[in-house]
Amino acid sequence: MRGVNVLAPVRNVQVDSYLDGSALASMADDVRAGLTREPKELPPKYFYDERGSNLFEQITALPEYYPTRIERALLNRYAQEIVTANAAEELVELGSGSASKTRALLYAMAAQGTLRRYVPVDVSESVVERCADELVEMYPGLRVHGLVGDFEAHLQHLPRGERRVVAFLGGTIGNLYPPERARFLRSLAELLGPHDRLLIGTDLVKDRELLEAAYDDSEGVTAEFNRNVLHAINRELDGNFDVATFDHVAVFDPEASWIEMRLRARGEQRVRVPGAGVEVTFGDGEEMRTEISTKFTRERLERELAAAGLGLERFMTDAGGLFGLTLAAPAERASSGAA
Ligand code: SAH
Ligand code: AVI
Repeated sequence: MRGVNVLAPVRNVQVDSYLDGSALASMADDVRAGLTREPKELPPKYFYDERGSNLFEQITALPEYYPTRIERALLNRYAQEIVTANAAEELVELGSGSASKTRALLYAMAAQGTLRRYVPVDVSESVVERCADELVEMYPGLRVHGLVGDFEAHLQHLPRGERRVVAFLGGTIGNLYPPERARFLRSLAELLGPHDRLLIGTDLVKDRELLEAAYDDSEGVTAEFNRNVLHAINRELDGNFDVATFDHVAVFDPEASWIEMRLRARGEQRVRVPGAGVEVTFGDGEEMRTEISTKFTRERLERELAAAGLGLERFMTDAGGLFGLTLAAPAERASSGAA
């Protein structure tokens, strides 16, 4: 499939979209599969329409939501060391969102005189276009080649590059289930050349109270973000979810080591989603899982990287051990110790 350039290549911006008519078909398939499963479940990528992306941005500024704050501080502190490891010329960012923290990396690449291209990849077209426009303004001479698509399905469309840092920030890797994550890490390992690096942000295991507060803020923004998946289904698939009758739930499962977000039906509900060809019943109090957010230890991450053929080169964390930034490389490269 060829990407459709949705922005004319004015200045140094190119944005290719791989979300065409088939995106709606896969949403319908995912929603049908999820609503007919026991227990019911919806994939988190459908949170991020324009409203959902804005709600996520609001979450990142909440006092309870520490990951963005800590990761930003880590990036500001270590950006220079990260980009000198492979004299990085290109930053590829998966699930880039507003790319607000990424700027530290671009700045460090510009300072060492190697910055050539930024490649944001996101399912949300509006965020890719907005950040592409902002960044070419900010860094004259920078080329931005955005991809609107699914990082689990469209990585083969990444432009070829040299000396890349492939960044997957924010803890988004924790939103994938272990088998999907293993598959995804293997596909990243295949993608990386010997001079490329992978930079992964992961939230770390900590006290239950701190974790649950981060996913159930006092202003109710996370609750709105959670319910947004129902708005998206109503709009895209002509569903009739009565959104206000679903309560937000966030619980830490210490065995799986993940926060689980759910939506709990208040009262029995009959829901029709004609675009997905389903009609289902929710019992009073029935909970549907909408997201997992895995909390890692360094050891677990190192093990998962190794299983995918990647070697951990550097693990950076804050004094409180709340969040981790990991620099990894194809295993042979990492074990040779060369930069
Ligand atoms: N990296 C940013 C944003 C994290 S929010 C940060 O650290 O703040 C997660 C981002 O990943 C959103 O912008 C969302 O649109 C995107 N996303 C979620 N699932 C995706 C998928 N399967 N493919 C591509 N992008 C995805
Ligand atoms: C994008 N992702 C890493 C966020 C997280 O923390 O798992 C999404 C989110 N869900 C609720 N709040 C934020």
